[in-house]
Amino acid sequence: MKAIRIADDVWWVGAIDWNARHFHGHTYTTKRGTTYNAYLIVDEKITLVDAVYGPFTDEMIQRIRTVIPVEKIDAIIANHIEPDHSGAYPELLKLCPNAKLYGSARAGQGLERYYHQKFDFTPVKTGDKLSLGKKTLRFIEIPMIHWPDSMMTYLEEDQILFSNDAFGQHYATNERFDDEVPWEILMEEAAKYYANILWPFSHLIAKKLVELAEMNLPIRMIATSHGVSWRKEPRKIITAYERWAANVTDPKIVIVYETMWGSTAKMARKIAEGVAASGVKYEIHDIAATDRTEVIYDMFSAKGYIVGSSNHDSGMLPNMVSFMEFLKGLHPKNRIGCAFGSYGWSGIAIKKLEETLKESGVEIVQPALSVVYAPDEAQLAACHEFGRKIAEFVKAV
Ligand code: FEO
Repeated sequence: MKAIRIADDVWWVGAIDWNARHFHGHTYTTKRGTTYNAYLIVDEKITLVDAVYGPFTDEMIQRIRTVIPVEKIDAIIANHIEPDHSGAYPELLKLCPNAKLYGSARAGQGLERYYHQKFDFTPVKTGDKLSLGKKTLRFIEIPMIHWPDSMMTYLEEDQILFSNDAFGQHYATNERFDDEVPWEILMEEAAKYYANILWPFSHLIAKKLVELAEMNLPIRMIATSHGVSWRKEPRKIITAYERWAANVTDPKIVIVYETMWGSTAKMARKIAEGVAASGVKYEIHDIAATDRTEVIYDMFSAKGYIVGSSNHDSGMLPNMVSFMEFLKGLHPKNRIGCAFGSYGWSGIAIKKLEETLKESGVEIVQPALSVVYAPDEAQLAACHEFGRKIAEFVKAV
């Protein structure tokens, strides 16, 4: 477990979590694992930028020891207090008890709440600088991107932006840089990360990107806290974030449904045929059989959403309930959609689907379509027409 040099006297000393399959509880499926990136700056003041998730503390310490004795750490920059970055602090601080922590004021409060111990903590704010000797750190708060405490740190002399969660990916790999991994996989994981974690904060991200541009900081490298860092053309991931934060979409429809006895599934397939007949691309997912993280990734680029469920008790089927609640939390903007489904004696599921779509911020462009028990030929034809119509809406915007 060695440190990896990323610039003069700057080292990656993080950990690779090859087997992580879930993140944020079970809200995010990390099929490619993840990394927790920490960075060591060796200067007069020996400084660690971020740390790793608690179970990976030993791996980080081993890597640090290949550069300096860990006991020599003078300063720790806490860009973000979420446990995947701060979990190592209590054990680490037993080895370097005199190390001072720096972070946003909210980080100081949050760390005490998490770890129930006092830290030698100095709050910093945007524009504050910390001299390490030859090198200088400059802090940039990014509140609610994606926690109130979140911050980025810029290393002036090396033009490295330690961006914490921003620009990251859940991608376990031995490589540390964008030019060492397949570009398609990297961008897929970066977009998936944005879609499943950062999407609700797009309005703040858009503003922060403008603010960052106005700072005119030359950025040679963006060193993230998850996945690989961007050194080839850091501008490319910033441009991608600008597009994602603006909720730019492709003329594509995603159909998501859950079915009890196959009627809603039949409707979904016929709706998809109608969409395809209009020449609009679609993806179709049975949410009971498909990973939610991947579905959200597909929806992230799509203009149209069609959601369906059979009725169950007094609402939707349970996987669809969970999915719709998750979607609502993401607040997709600039999307159109509609609902459909089958029922026996109460069509409440379809009403709830439509209501939840509206609450998510999706514009309902045509009335919901429902069928009692199983669709007959005429109703299947209506499903085809239903798909065709929403495809026309997608083409028109
Ligand atoms: Fe990677 Fe918000 O923690």
